[in-house]
Amino acid sequence: PVLVVDFGAQYAQLIARRVREARVYSEIVPHTWTTEQMLAKRPSAIILSGGPASVYAAGAPFVDPALFEAGVPVLGICYGFQAMAKALGGEVAQTGAREYGGTQVEVCRAGALLHGSPEHQTTWMSHGDAVHAAPEGFEVLATSAGSPVAAFEHTERRLYGVQWHPEVKHSPLGQDALENFLYSGAGLAPDWTADNVIADQVAAIRAQVGDARVICGLSGGVDSSVAAALVQRAVGEQLTCVFVDHGLLREGEAEQVEQDFVAATGVQLKVVDAREQFLDALAGVSDPETKRKIIGREFIRVFEAAAREVVEEAGEHGEEVKFLVQGTLYPDVVESGGGEGAANIKSHHNVGGLPDDLQFQLVEPLRTLFKDEVRAVGLELGVPEEIVWRQPFPGPGLGIRIVGDVTAERLETLRKADAIARAELTKAGLDREIWQCPVVLLADVRSVGVQGDGRTYGHPIVLRPVSSEDAMTADWTRLPYDVLSIISTRITNEVADVNRVVLDVTSKPPGTIEWE
Ligand code: XMP
Repeated sequence: PVLVVDFGAQYAQLIARRVREARVYSEIVPHTWTTEQMLAKRPSAIILSGGPASVYAAGAPFVDPALFEAGVPVLGICYGFQAMAKALGGEVAQTGAREYGGTQVEVCRAGALLHGSPEHQTTWMSHGDAVHAAPEGFEVLATSAGSPVAAFEHTERRLYGVQWHPEVKHSPLGQDALENFLYSGAGLAPDWTADNVIADQVAAIRAQVGDARVICGLSGGVDSSVAAALVQRAVGEQLTCVFVDHGLLREGEAEQVEQDFVAATGVQLKVVDAREQFLDALAGVSDPETKRKIIGREFIRVFEAAAREVVEEAGEHGEEVKFLVQGTLYPDVVESGGGEGAANIKSHHNVGGLPDDLQFQLVEPLRTLFKDEVRAVGLELGVPEEIVWRQPFPGPGLGIRIVGDVTAERLETLRKADAIARAELTKAGLDREIWQCPVVLLADVRSVGVQGDGRTYGHPIVLRPVSSEDAMTADWTRLPYDVLSIISTRITNEVADVNRVVLDVTSKPPGTIEWE
């Protein structure tokens, strides 16, 4: 792999993504790793990321000069560039003159790294210190007002560096520089493709599982569906998927999983109708956290019972279910500690809180992938497009989109309103523009309306369309008024008890995406 050494900013994930966009496999490792640990991974190239420290700060992470003697191609970025310059005997000065944001650099010599670059390019910078003299034998490729040396290279030693951040979109030619490094600098081929991922994962799953029995909780979302399809490809009949219909689903969802997904993948599916059980457990509860806890708890109960049934149904040859499939993605792994060592990984996060004393071993075939890669793998595996491109939907479902108690009637009301909003957004071609659009029923609020010839005293429906890259932050989506108008008219006409539709125009923060 290409190792991206994380010096502690948020850029390492982005660099790893960009490398993969160039179809080269990459992994993130912490800067605390020794040179031996890094070399033990047999890296095809190493990228040193940016970071918040100054190379002058006490305890600032430094780069072991031995790393540059191993013959592995290295690219230093921002902090990584300065640490590299320092380790190799160049001069890094604390000028106090910061460069931040869009910055013009002058390319004095394109070399291999900036091959194809115009004489001037706009780059994204964020640094205080600057490289004043390149290490011996290095060619200076670019300069900027605040950085006498803004890029350098030593082609024989295959060592390269840039002061700016090529991984951010504000450096428009950044991807070109990264690809120059990967393809010509490091001599790598763009062969990290969905087929290769599938072949590797299928082999890995077979090796892990052997001939044991496996189950997978299917939610109908992208991650669990693609994980299930991969495991199905690997071990076929040994896998049983369990789909829990908790009654908090949107219109058509249960059918989509039961029909489309099974038809496309041939997976063995067990559908558990637990609608009554969930409704009973939620009766009279309006506190959001209590609702979430109840839904999580009931989910586990149903799931464990289903796992026991799977074994019983297998008859006398039935052996215990040993493995549980989880759709954990790479960002979850990275965010919880870098991916090495099982210590504090949020393994249970997709199923809404499995107990710690879980009797299953986990199979996590997506744990090296980003969301867009999961989608590519899903399409390649033949998972239906409607599932692959689905917007996120929370595990607790419509249960946390009813402000107030959850009842069968209220769920029915919300389901109808939600179906109308979704259908109209799809019709207007807005699905990929919106991250997701929760539709919320304010069951504890009433307002006066006039419908037909009479007074009504009904409930409002809230539309919460948001745009986001990762759901950590979000902005409200500026939907066309015409589309909003159609949705509003249809909901108030077609859904009994609703006499008002309102639009949520709050970003996150301060509002979360879901109302509860
Ligand atoms: P918030 O409301 O925290 O939501 O801004 C961020 C993203 O997470 C989804 N979400 C959940 N997903 N189980 C899930 O699987 C949950 O309990 C849950 N709560 C929120 C939400 O839809 C949004 O995409």
